[in-house]
Amino acid sequence: MSDLMQALKFQNIDLPNRFALAPMTRTSAEADGTPNLLMADHYERYARGGFGLVITEGTYTDNKASQGYANQPGIINEAQIQGWRTIVDRVHAAGSKIFTQLMHAGAQFQANRYTDQPLGPSEIAPKGAPLGFYGDQKVWQVPSAMNSADIQVAINGFAQSAVNAKAAGFDGIEIHGANGYLINQFLSTHFNKRDDNYGGSLENRMRLAVDVTRAVRKAVGEDFPVGIRLSQGTVTDPDYQLPEGAAGFRKIVEAVRDAGADFVHTTDGDVNRQHFVDGDQTLAGVAAEVQGIDLIINGNIDETNCQNIANQFPGALLAVGKKALANPDFVQRLKDGKEIADINFEMLQPKATISNELAWRKQNAA
Ligand SMILES: Cc1cc2nc3c(=O)[nH]c(=O)nc-3n(C[C@H](O)[C@H](O)[C@H](O)COP(=O)(O)O)c2cc1C
Repeated sequence: MSDLMQALKFQNIDLPNRFALAPMTRTSAEADGTPNLLMADHYERYARGGFGLVITEGTYTDNKASQGYANQPGIINEAQIQGWRTIVDRVHAAGSKIFTQLMHAGAQFQANRYTDQPLGPSEIAPKGAPLGFYGDQKVWQVPSAMNSADIQVAINGFAQSAVNAKAAGFDGIEIHGANGYLINQFLSTHFNKRDDNYGGSLENRMRLAVDVTRAVRKAVGEDFPVGIRLSQGTVTDPDYQLPEGAAGFRKIVEAVRDAGADFVHTTDGDVNRQHFVDGDQTLAGVAAEVQGIDLIINGNIDETNCQNIANQFPGALLAVGKKALANPDFVQRLKDGKEIADINFEMLQPKATISNELAWRKQNAA
């Protein structure tokens, strides 16, 4: 475990170890998107539990169509910035660093206080059903296809939210380009049927990822860590594959690097899943080959495999989701050689709120 627990520099920030809390939506902000003290306690718990880096849940970026869930936090006004500042201060006081994840829901839209009409690359809804633990919708709405003004609004929202995140004291920005949200929808041939310069070829489909990365970089300046989370699959279609395969994915990573990304955060069902249409590489494996960009990796990392994965990807941060939910002090437990629990999804029922989790913990306390 030694190197995993050693302090390191990631970009220009000092981290106490290589563990990151994976971004996890908890729909626990105030109805107007303001982060609250329940969330501050929640994020502080993971910092105290040893996670060197905390990555926040997906946070919406404009007052148009970016919000996807009721009680999702935003970062678009002064009250929201202040709410985040409290959380940032609490995480810093516990000795960890914190990035915010900026997210535009696009077609994966279950609730939005500013509009009833989702926007997406084309008039195509996600596969499957909406997520029951985030809302009560039974079917996806069909989004309107974004025109070039809508696209510009979305890009500007990411850029302004990045400025707001810097003002709130965050240590870096993660752009959400994964899991079927807007940027990922543009990359996807399921969602994107456009015939303008944002659709068709891979170069066109990745244009939004590149434009947003470039705009965020320009907005925050050179020395502020900026990265993007990327996946092939989505929350309701985890087996989706890019038709352009591993070489196509490499092109995306190179393009976001050239647009100003310092790191890419790959996420797949499992870090070691070989899931390109061609060859036997992994998402993280391809990203690791690209020079000049740092790496955060995610997917089924636990106490049994973390050391091997860390050895496989020197210098990469390991982002942990389910094991962290089950053990907010996962890193401390690992250090102390203590027992580590498996996730019990009942803690996220009937909704994935922090208060439901706390009630479940109380009820199930030994
Ligand atoms: C309750 C819950 C909420 C999640 N919310 C987000 C999110 O807001 N942004 C994101 O990029 N991924 C989100 N994810 C995905 C996780 O970050 C992670 O990729 C996934 O759980 C797989 O990692 P794991 O095997 O370590 O759990 C969420 C996962 C869970 C379980």
